[in-house]
Amino acid sequence: MRSGPNFLRGFMMAHLTDLTVHRGSVLHFLGDPGSAIEPAAGSHEYFEDGALAIADGKVVTAGPASDVLARYPREDRVVDHGRKLLLPGFIDTHIHYPQTDVIASGGRGLLDWLRDYTFPMEQRFGDIAHARPVADFFLDELLRNGTTTALVFCTVHPQSAEAFFESARQRRLRMIAGKVLMDRHCPDYLQDTAATGEAQTRELIGKWHGRERLLYALTPRFAATSTTEQLASVGRMAREFPDVFIQTHAAENLEEVQWIRDVFPDARSYMDVYDRHGLLRERAVYAHCIHIDGSDRERMAHTGAAAAFCPSSNLYLGSGLFDIEAADAAGLRFSIATDIGGGNNFSLLRTMGDAYKVAQLSGKLLPPLRAFYLATAGAARVLRLEDRIGSFRPGTEADFIVLDPDATPLLARRCEQARTLSEKLLVLLALADDRAVAQTWILGRLQHTRA
Ligand code: GUN
Ligand code: ZN
Repeated sequence: MRSGPNFLRGFMMAHLTDLTVHRGSVLHFLGDPGSAIEPAAGSHEYFEDGALAIADGKVVTAGPASDVLARYPREDRVVDHGRKLLLPGFIDTHIHYPQTDVIASGGRGLLDWLRDYTFPMEQRFGDIAHARPVADFFLDELLRNGTTTALVFCTVHPQSAEAFFESARQRRLRMIAGKVLMDRHCPDYLQDTAATGEAQTRELIGKWHGRERLLYALTPRFAATSTTEQLASVGRMAREFPDVFIQTHAAENLEEVQWIRDVFPDARSYMDVYDRHGLLRERAVYAHCIHIDGSDRERMAHTGAAAAFCPSSNLYLGSGLFDIEAADAAGLRFSIATDIGGGNNFSLLRTMGDAYKVAQLSGKLLPPLRAFYLATAGAARVLRLEDRIGSFRPGTEADFIVLDPDATPLLARRCEQARTLSEKLLVLLALADDRAVAQTWILGRLQHTRA
């Protein structure tokens, strides 16, 4: 057995030869800064002249540049990003890859939009030759926008999930995805059955869940498109695979909520339909949750289920305003998500800007520090992946982005005038988009550089 100082020296050498220090302004979150204008103490670390040390694809440390460079003084391994901002990669907790080509489709509201645009487009993913290039485009677009992890809907076709996981694997991304389950109230060409849906899901879990950085999510589309038999099947799998995720939609649109009342007359509420089947639990993320009540929020908080706030989609489809204050009052965890293609922008910067505006419409403030938390460490917490992604804590996976405050003349001009970190972040969420993402690094390796 190898032991003692020799073994240790070997380990240290191997460790150090792979070490790179990135110098720039460094920001990450250790907790929720909360809704007060001045953030809670200890919620974040900001090193204006900072450095991030990375080895073997993992974060070694983040701190003031002088400290980190003194510890790791090898000049050839320093990447100097000037006054650019280093942040953990964004995490999008609700997005549909097959809806990339649905973005900017019209319609009067959710149900028309699904029938007229979304379902016909999703039909095409039965052909893996169609799915593959869309998955490639989608993942490259995420990287261009600084998103390094996402919780992703595929279509009802298992091959749509195969294509997605394979593209994500090739890019070494931490991605969570699942095949849609949908056995009623949808076109025949998109229907599975409780039995085929379960069999296909089990096969995909066996093949992809926990393979490299990939994870699986049980994906009933929403309560309206699953029979109680199918919801019961999802509940069984949710119990059998506690570390598999659950993703679905809930209470997005008033017409949809009425439909759920008609289809499930015995349920107390929309969320109760899911609750009855054991689908409220940790690692379960419910998109929208706009038209829910205090009991639903408390039940979600109690069970560890979380909400994905999708402001751009909610504005585009006219669905309503997510109630941040009510979520906080109930202790309900939530994050910010794009919901492509109801949402029409891949950028979580733009989405944070919309979240800020939705809060304003409700007479509330979304402090910019909190918005950045909700798109990074807060999203990792919603996914229960905070020990792996979302911050620069030592040992986490080194997925990070380099934001350029000089990306456009206006951005440069307004950032120059920002006196505090909060002011700078507000300028970024109001004005920045993919043009500000200079680089995206995955496991310590450069994966995207802005043209
Ligand atoms: N509800 C059921 N399916 C969908 C979908 O694809 N997008 C959105 N935004 N809501 C849904
Ligand atoms: Zn959605």
